[in-house]
Amino acid sequence: MTPFVTTSLYSLVVCYLLVQAGYFAYHQIITNISRRRIIKAHGCQSPTSFDEQSWLGYVYGLRLVRTIGSLAKEHRLEEATQERYQEYGNTHRGKFFSVGQIFTIEAENVKTILATKFKDYELPSRRKRAFRSLLGKGIFCVDGADWKHSRELIRPNFVRDQVADLDTFEEHLNLMINAIPKDGKTTVDLQELFFGLTIDTATEFLLGQSTNVLLRKDSPESRANLNFAAAWHRSNLESLNHNRSNFLYRAPKHFKDDIKIVNDYVGKYVQRGLQYRKDFLRDPEKTISENGRYVFMHEVVKTIDDPVRVRDEILNVLLAGRDTTATLLGNMWFTLARRPDVWAKLRQEVSETLRGQRPTFEQLKNLKYLKAVMNESLRLSPVVPFNSREAITDTVLPLGGGPTGASPILVRKGEVVNYMVYAMHRRPDYFGPDADEFRPERWEHLRPTWEYLPFNGGPRVCIGQQYALTEAGYTTVRLVQRFAKVESRDERPWTECITLIASNLHGTKVVLTPA
Ligand code: HEM
Ligand SMILES: *[C@@H]1O[C@H](CO)[C@@H](O)[C@H](O)[C@H]1NC(C)=O
Ligand SMILES: *[C@@H]1O[C@H](CO)[C@@H](O)[C@H](O)[C@H]1NC(C)=O
Repeated sequence: MTPFVTTSLYSLVVCYLLVQAGYFAYHQIITNISRRRIIKAHGCQSPTSFDEQSWLGYVYGLRLVRTIGSLAKEHRLEEATQERYQEYGNTHRGKFFSVGQIFTIEAENVKTILATKFKDYELPSRRKRAFRSLLGKGIFCVDGADWKHSRELIRPNFVRDQVADLDTFEEHLNLMINAIPKDGKTTVDLQELFFGLTIDTATEFLLGQSTNVLLRKDSPESRANLNFAAAWHRSNLESLNHNRSNFLYRAPKHFKDDIKIVNDYVGKYVQRGLQYRKDFLRDPEKTISENGRYVFMHEVVKTIDDPVRVRDEILNVLLAGRDTTATLLGNMWFTLARRPDVWAKLRQEVSETLRGQRPTFEQLKNLKYLKAVMNESLRLSPVVPFNSREAITDTVLPLGGGPTGASPILVRKGEVVNYMVYAMHRRPDYFGPDADEFRPERWEHLRPTWEYLPFNGGPRVCIGQQYALTEAGYTTVRLVQRFAKVESRDERPWTECITLIASNLHGTKVVLTPA
């Protein structure tokens, strides 16, 4: 190369870098001016900071990365995080893998993120990345227009009556009851059975064919069912690992295999669904009457015919609906087995109202004490204890700034706002000085709004709330009618096991005595 060419290349590079640096500086200045304006207009102040005192924490948020990792291993993430709120305030700041984080348990702030300023936030990009390989572009992993489409597709299927089909519940519940020892002596893990029950009912509802895990039959078909259920469980956990390890994550080989098992299994039903679509388009009335029962898949294929999209939407609803309902049941029965007073009251309500009969949908809705027990269980052991949203623009939260936390705070574009329902549900100023106690009677007067949020709120509120409460309520009523007594066979306290949701690490080990 001639010296001339080298020099001009060199100056070109320098020029380019200067322009970049100039643009960066310009952008910084503009952003700062705009932020200063927001701060002034709203009277924003800074919240207390959790880890910006130490330089490691300041630069990279490693303090939080380390503590979260070890606390989860010690099964103390819920308790310890609640303590952090007590120490640093109801709203405070921190960093996690260099991303600015705001932590809050102020109902006003949560309402702002989820409803009032819904448009300023999206799901954390980390969560979307981690779950995409398993869940594709389903409702759980998308925002904006994609999310709207998914929501419009799924939501109508949950407002109709068929959604919680009591006959289907009864059928699978009977299989579950068959699996419970009736000698009044042998210990059974109810949590495990609840997980079987909810995958059997959810697959029946979604695919039109149950996994029938509770049938415990030995046939090629049931082995395929069990294989799917196991692969589904493992791939859920792997997605969570991905989320936790962030960019350090490397997918193990079995993850790919598991995803293939899941996709092949569901894919079979998607093919049947697409055949249903063809039949339906040709002769709607005949097709509906021949198929009778309500199946979620049949509704989805009426609007979309891309097999991958159909599969993704179904897997997303399976993820949202299965473990959650099982865990509500597991947690609630963990408490019932330790609280003879609650058990007695529940039995009384059930027998007085139903006199041994199966409840109808209406009757189920009117069992006040049962509902209070479910509410109280979801308050103290919310199935989804942690959640978060990422700001996609500079925005403001009404509380958390200044020494008393009474001033608004600035949330910068790209920062993540974490809200912790578990700790919010235990605030004495919201629920009284006995907020830590399991007392269903408090629901005689409580009418909470944003401070009680087991199913989230705003435009992304849980779609399956009614379905879940119906399934959990129906299951509980039928078990209460069938068994006179439930006793705990586990001395250990409730010990958190955090996946996407928080269940008890040791399950729900009890002895049931038939009525
Ligand atoms: C006790 C049981 C349940 C609990 C505690 C629960 C809780 C939640 C929560 C907290 C969210 C918000 C997640 C987020 O946006 O970050 C959610 C969303 C969702 N839930 Fe549930 N859920 C339960 C059962 C169900 C069931 C049975 C179904 C369906 C059969 C279901 C379907 C959904 C769907 C589709 C979404 C996504 C909504 C959206 O993003 O627009 N859930 N649920
Ligand atoms: C992902 O990991 C972060 C950090 O551990 C956590 O705060 C968040 O709740 C996780 N998200 C999900 C969906 O588990
Ligand atoms: C349970 O909680 C919901 C949500 O706050 C409330 O609307 C309902 O009235 C409560 N039911 C009972 C019986 O406490």
